Amino acid sequence: MPTLAVVGTQWGDEGKGKITDYLAEDADMVVRFQGGTNAGHTIGIGDEVFKLHLLPSGILREGTISVIANGVVCDLEEMGEEIEQVVSSGRSVDGLRISDRAAVVLPYHKILDGAEERYRGKKGVGTTGRGIGPCYADKISRYGIRAGDLLEPEYLSERLEMLHVIKEKLIEILGGEVPDREQVMKDLLDFGERFGKYITDTSVLINDFISNGRKVLFEGAQGSMLDIDHGTYPFVTSSNCVSGGICSGAGVPPSAVGEIVGIVKAYTTRVGSGPFPTELLDDLGEHLLRKGGEFGTTTGRARRCGWLDLVVVNYAVRLSGISQLAVTKLDVLNGLETVKVTTAYEIDGKETKYFPASLNRLAKVEPVMTEMNGWDDWEESSVEIARRGMNALPREMRDYLAFIEKETGVKATILGIGPKREETIDLERDRWNC
Ligand code: GDP
Ligand code: IMO
Ligand code: MG
Repeated sequence: MPTLAVVGTQWGDEGKGKITDYLAEDADMVVRFQGGTNAGHTIGIGDEVFKLHLLPSGILREGTISVIANGVVCDLEEMGEEIEQVVSSGRSVDGLRISDRAAVVLPYHKILDGAEERYRGKKGVGTTGRGIGPCYADKISRYGIRAGDLLEPEYLSERLEMLHVIKEKLIEILGGEVPDREQVMKDLLDFGERFGKYITDTSVLINDFISNGRKVLFEGAQGSMLDIDHGTYPFVTSSNCVSGGICSGAGVPPSAVGEIVGIVKAYTTRVGSGPFPTELLDDLGEHLLRKGGEFGTTTGRARRCGWLDLVVVNYAVRLSGISQLAVTKLDVLNGLETVKVTTAYEIDGKETKYFPASLNRLAKVEPVMTEMNGWDDWEESSVEIARRGMNALPREMRDYLAFIEKETGVKATILGIGPKREETIDLERDRWNC
């Protein structure tokens, strides 16, 4: 099967962008299938740093087709800015394709995202404010506007008229300034003119690539703990981030989904509100925040940090059928005397390996931890260590990886020891033929 998928196994920001970019070297096509500009995928290539929110991380690889598929909520204004970022680096976006069925994020959605958060007050989700929830809500309620509609002005105008009336009322109730309908229409038509050449039936395109044996890489956003069904509801995003989301979000059958690479940060982070059993509220948490540069790519917020939680990772392995792990940010743990890993939870005196649904039960979780020896910082550069491979890693780091593999039953085939492409160790070169 010539497809691979990258999915987050924690609360997002595991390093999916970096790993997607790395794997995209061999891909003919990279597909975003869910989420929107709430994602922030950072890619380091030599001295260049790219922060992509909507464009697939394959956009930086020449000759790769980059698809924003039907399951994505598409903020075309933001996309225009990202296109400029890529073009000004001397690269082309000619390979971009946008699904005619992708929902379009409108100004109403962003205003309502903020207004709903204010309404929820202290119980707010801590969203990225990018209009993601309201846009998905409109899609499900069948009021949404889709990318293909931008190419049919009369139909677009009818759809906008219906939507505007409802949003106007809602914004009046929740608070906020109602956007000017004429201006919204004008902007949408402008987007249609600028981006129309990229809008197409991407399901046909993706399935053709797969049928012709060309390599397709699906790039997940967020992580399974933020999944609308399986995550820490209501502190989640509004899409299916697990691998199941690929089929509906890209318009491919389950049989088209091959190897699934689960991205695991060597510790855990979360941005926004909600349960986090292994959170470190002490100096060590602060140390990981600083050393790992754990500030949100999209909002700049400080990420909450904690030890690696294998209850969470094993949940992701089960939900997404993860067949390989990419363990990232191992270098951030360098220099610690000991490291801890959670393998189970104790709730009301009983041990469980399953992540509970109830927020009340989650509040009672006592993580069951295994403490392991840490390792020293290395003196060579991470690029040099990566070049020398697995054997150049400290023995205790290899023990840490072996422990993760034993507890998850999944092989770690990619190791991240720095933010750059060149700071990656790959133990499975023949991944596409697994
Ligand atoms: P994503 O949303 O999953 O793509 O992850 P983000 O880009 O939001 O956050 C991951 C951060 O860690 C980014 O700043 C990356 O440049 C950085 N990063 C990725 N892999 C590694 C790694 O192995 N080591 C270090 N030190 N940084 C990494
Ligand atoms: P990537 O792809 C980390 C979080 C927000 C908030 C919740 C809901 O970079 O890993 P939303 O704006 O989606 O309605 O916010 O989800 N969140 C993320 N956290 N990484 C992300 O994406 C995220 N996308 C959304 O912080 O808690
Ligand atoms: Mg991110």
